[in-house]
Amino acid sequence: MSTQAGLHTPMSLKARPSAPATLARCRELVEPALRKAVLGLHPGPGRIASHAFGWCDADGTPTSGGGGKWVRPALAVLGAEAVGAGEDVAVPAAVAIELIHTFSLMHDDIMDGDERRRHRDSAWKAFGTGPAVLAGDALFALAVRTLAEAGGAGGGAAVRQLTVMLGELVHGQADDVLFESRPWTGPGAVGLAEYRAMAARKTGALLACATALGPLLTGAPPLLTDALARAGRQWGLAFQAVDDVLGIWGDPAVTGKPVHSDLRRGKKTLPVLGAMALDPSVGPRLEALLGVPADEAAVRRAADLVEEAGGRAYALRDARTRVAAARDQLRAVPLVEHRVDELVALSELFLDREL
Ligand code: IPE
Ligand code: IPE
Ligand code: MG
Ligand code: MG
Repeated sequence: MSTQAGLHTPMSLKARPSAPATLARCRELVEPALRKAVLGLHPGPGRIASHAFGWCDADGTPTSGGGGKWVRPALAVLGAEAVGAGEDVAVPAAVAIELIHTFSLMHDDIMDGDERRRHRDSAWKAFGTGPAVLAGDALFALAVRTLAEAGGAGGGAAVRQLTVMLGELVHGQADDVLFESRPWTGPGAVGLAEYRAMAARKTGALLACATALGPLLTGAPPLLTDALARAGRQWGLAFQAVDDVLGIWGDPAVTGKPVHSDLRRGKKTLPVLGAMALDPSVGPRLEALLGVPADEAAVRRAADLVEEAGGRAYALRDARTRVAAARDQLRAVPLVEHRVDELVALSELFLDREL
């Protein structure tokens, strides 16, 4: 265990870590191992995976600079480093987490009917639904294998946590999809508490697992592992709140995925639920706009309505509060201080992101 853990220096007295530099450092550390793992797949699912990671076009021509933002593998690396663990723990944990994340996106785009992901056609759009399902399955299996083969004092506990997280993610996805057919208003309407339970599972569980997986693998004390998992869960809720905002007001040229798809499908996202909580007249008006197959003009009016009622600001406020609470909780436990600073800087990047 590290000897660097201890009392925290006030942030104002030290240099602030750069979150983009942290993301780049973690990507550099983890991507070679991720590529190596994916190379072992059958060439069919392997090509689809490489496309999703930004390594090749749909026809297999190599590309560079694509893929996702690398938030979750960075959380996994920093979580491991925050308890003083080395690359032997950080890298397999991060590879397993990014594999699970990308599997979940491949299947999510089928469920959500979304045609764009990471600035390219989503896997089902580029390769067909069957091949995309199978490629997702391949990544899922590879993630479990990567972690199981990582060894470590807490290998069993880490694999168990990964499988518990997967169950939660599926539970959250099931609720997210079920909520689409629930009404906007009336007794069957989705409440804010239900939304939070859903988002804590569909997104919070994976971020909680990301921060805690390295510590579990290395057998870190539960005080530290639990604190990192709790922070990860809050960051997941904050991340999803901002994702919900970008799904209504984001720019597809920047996010690399569609806008307005959530509203069109009747997804119960935080800005919408927040707007309805702030102004009871919003629900019936949304029902009128979105209750029938909605054209683009009706969807735009719905977005304006949610914004005017304060739903966008509500969701961003919620995200800000969670990031601040997680920061304070994390600073209260004896973790490696400069890694906590990097984690905090990364979580603050979630709030202002446009992609
Ligand atoms: C998208 O996550 C799924 C959500 C939980 C909102 P990201 O926005 O982190 O996806 P990539 O990995 O950067 O593409
Ligand atoms: C994110 O789902 C969570 C999972 C994929 C499990 P969303 O549907 O909210 O995320 P985006 O907006 O498609 O990335
Ligand atoms: Mg989606
Ligand atoms: Mg979804």
